[in-house]
Amino acid sequence: MAAAHTSTARSELRLGIAGLGTVGVGVLRLLSDNAAELAARAPLDLRVTAVSARDANRDRGVDLSAYAFESDAGALARRDDVDVVVELIGGTTGAGADAVIEGLRAGKAVVTANKALVAERGAELARLIDEHGGALYYEAAVAGGIPAIKGLREGLVANRIVSVAGILNGTCNFILTKMKDEQRAFDDVLAEAQALGYAEADPSFDIDGVDAAHKLAILSAVAFGGVPDFAAIELEGIRGVALADIEMAEEFGFSLKLLGVAKPRASGAGVRQYVAPVLVPLSNPIAGVHDSFNAVVVRGEPVDEVMMRGRGAGEGPTASAVVADIMDFARGINPPLFGALALAGGASSTDGAAMGETGGASERRFWRLVVDDRPGVIAEVSQVLSDQALSVEKIVQKDADGSRAHVFILTHAAPRAKADGVAQALGALNCMIEAPAVYSVEAL
Ligand code: HSE
Repeated sequence: MAAAHTSTARSELRLGIAGLGTVGVGVLRLLSDNAAELAARAPLDLRVTAVSARDANRDRGVDLSAYAFESDAGALARRDDVDVVVELIGGTTGAGADAVIEGLRAGKAVVTANKALVAERGAELARLIDEHGGALYYEAAVAGGIPAIKGLREGLVANRIVSVAGILNGTCNFILTKMKDEQRAFDDVLAEAQALGYAEADPSFDIDGVDAAHKLAILSAVAFGGVPDFAAIELEGIRGVALADIEMAEEFGFSLKLLGVAKPRASGAGVRQYVAPVLVPLSNPIAGVHDSFNAVVVRGEPVDEVMMRGRGAGEGPTASAVVADIMDFARGINPPLFGALALAGGASSTDGAAMGETGGASERRFWRLVVDDRPGVIAEVSQVLSDQALSVEKIVQKDADGSRAHVFILTHAAPRAKADGVAQALGALNCMIEAPAVYSVEAL
């Protein structure tokens, strides 16, 4: 029979929360609501000692009277009664960045949800940790409640990563899902996403792919080594996606999704990272990830495929990831920042010299042409494809009204450089009313 445990005094881990928006308040609530579970799972008692926000007096629906208040997030990070700085403000500069940097300068543990900061200033943060001996945890920066960083960095640590990809922006996934399900136009659904509070303060961060690119840069660094290389990401958002594209993609057997993808270049020269609306086969599980859900798909050797799906934003899911990081520190778990032991001088996640490499990789493409509705137009389009030796898998004409028509084409796999040449030649045809819309097919 097991011996009865006598109670031993437990030490405290003192938390300073910088930022009392949705996530900050969510963290306070979670620490209180699940206090029993947290106490049972870590050897330290988590106690909030101080908080920081712009406005001390706003009613946030939580009692702040037990905490010291700092209006300056950097000052909060420096306080002697704060062991762990929890930064939930955001931004590459300003109060959020100050809290993280001051915490690391003081050699403390910092937990952050700040994807822009980690993606764009990751190298600098790594240096601060080397110099001052602190630690940085950032699970909440990528895909909200999905344990994507822990899954990749710890759970899949034994694998050689082949690719990492994901639906990394819930707003875009919500918009694309609604457009298809309710046959609505992009602008109309964007307004609804904003009203529901999904979209970033500046919605262009969501719909132009910047938010997804921040998350991809971090995932790519963890998957392939080095530090996040945000500037190297090829970026395209969803402003140009028409309802007709989504509908015809579906008829052709695909779902149109905004994906972030990172995989080593075929030539072996670095990692290609891109965010773009692409077609994924309906048979792929990621095609079934709808609404504001996120998903991260990792292919590794020898694990094969792992997909994690969950909520990428919101109070509860993001607080879940933040508190998981606090618990890691409380349990004495501190993995290498981006997975690899040596970051300085290590391979960047993307080899800049290889950025011009577009000819090698081969892909299928899906095209939407808006053309004059008159005899000979299909022949002109076919001539371009024939001249460039780009083979057609499927072609459908729709909505011909005597003045204009839509032509949708799925082309067989061909080097990207060839498909780019075709896009240019098609765009130059007199029958072309709009620049062709073109999407890659991503098999994953
Ligand atoms: N605006 C983001 C999204 C939420 O829509 O996914 C958090 O990154």
